[in-house]
Amino acid sequence: MGMIQRPRGTRDFLPDEMEKRRYYEAALRNVAKTFGFREVATPIFEEAELFTLKSGSNVLEELYVFKDKGNREIALRPEMTAPTIRMFVNEMSSELRPIKVFYFGQCFRYERPQSGRYREFFQFGAELIGSLDAESDAEVIAMASSMIKAFGLKNYRIRIGHIGILKQKVIDAGVPEECVVRVLQKLDKKLYDEARLLLLEMNISEEKIRDIFEFTETVGGVDVLSYVSGKTGDYLRRVSDLLLAMGVENIMIDLGVVRGLDYYTGIVFEVEAPTLGAEKQVCGGGSYTLSELFGGERVFSTGFAVGFDRAIIAAEKEGQVYEKKGVKVYVLPTSKDMQVYASRVVAKLRVANIASDIEIMGRKVSKAMRYAAAIGAEYTVIVGAKEAQQDSVMLRNMVSGEQKVVEVNNLVEEIQ
Ligand code: HAM
Repeated sequence: MGMIQRPRGTRDFLPDEMEKRRYYEAALRNVAKTFGFREVATPIFEEAELFTLKSGSNVLEELYVFKDKGNREIALRPEMTAPTIRMFVNEMSSELRPIKVFYFGQCFRYERPQSGRYREFFQFGAELIGSLDAESDAEVIAMASSMIKAFGLKNYRIRIGHIGILKQKVIDAGVPEECVVRVLQKLDKKLYDEARLLLLEMNISEEKIRDIFEFTETVGGVDVLSYVSGKTGDYLRRVSDLLLAMGVENIMIDLGVVRGLDYYTGIVFEVEAPTLGAEKQVCGGGSYTLSELFGGERVFSTGFAVGFDRAIIAAEKEGQVYEKKGVKVYVLPTSKDMQVYASRVVAKLRVANIASDIEIMGRKVSKAMRYAAAIGAEYTVIVGAKEAQQDSVMLRNMVSGEQKVVEVNNLVEEIQ
């Protein structure tokens, strides 16, 4: 029988990788906390309907669905906005608004795997529920920006558009409502020739087509908003004023931003890291309503999700190196006779919250020392018979090579 491999599009995370991921995760949690968001968690699988109601055709094709033993249609979550809003409708609908929550966890999409695109991937996201204002959109975009910065990224841009106005424009031009998504998909990919053919088939005039394209081609710095009149202009100007006040950088206006998910109704935004090439989108979000689909009242929300795996790749492409921490101390008995005494010493260090490891393979001092260096221990504590008689050990600084006899009672203090 051949070796069993992990499923296509999934990854194993080894200790070094995991330590690095936890480091970034902690940084993001900290950002969420500083913005007043609190963590929630929802199941990894849900009733399939939760995702089939409104996610859009792209997501449907990629959905992992199966029947469980009770013949229920179950899906692995492809994203966490719908689950969060379901949870809100089920359990939080009477809470004070706005509700600000964040989440971190894996999502599943049956995609064609490639660098930065997996079948199991991780999102760190947030939803601000119960408010429809430029203020709430600015709040989540500012937090998304701080999260991108928490990865140490410098080369990125935040593209902001407004799907609500774009949809309305397409409908006003005469596109039947059920065809809007098809048109938007072409515009999303900037396939203007195909979009034109499609619109002509629907008997939309050249003039109106030009008008739509002009709108989606409104791209540039915040100053391009001065050419955008009416409500969209006012709204986006307000958002960008607030973002500037909060010190958010790298903002671009791009009224052609169309998201892959269908539930958005207002502002939409994407953060791109150009170093990533094809899969350059490291974060996406916008405002939407979903609660009424899940049996609740209509509540406006806004949020985003950072593609955690991609953001790490982008950080590394920009040259960032995570220095692994490893253990602080390696305790090393010089012989089997000293093992019990050494165990007492290592227990003392651990109680004092000092990450400590102990030689348990009975190796000679020189060999064990090499192992301690390899795992990155800052200190070794050598436990020999002579020192033990005086309730002491030999403390060696692995960086400077300095060593001295230290009383066990003073060891913790000495290391700290
Ligand atoms: P999304 O754009 O579909 O939005 O996903 C968010 C991010 O997840 C993407 O920008 C990308 O970085 C990452 N991502 C998506 N698919 C994959 C994959 N196969 N492999 C690796 N990374 C991937 C949402 O999911 C919305 N729920 C975001 C949101 C929250 N909107 C409002 N609130």
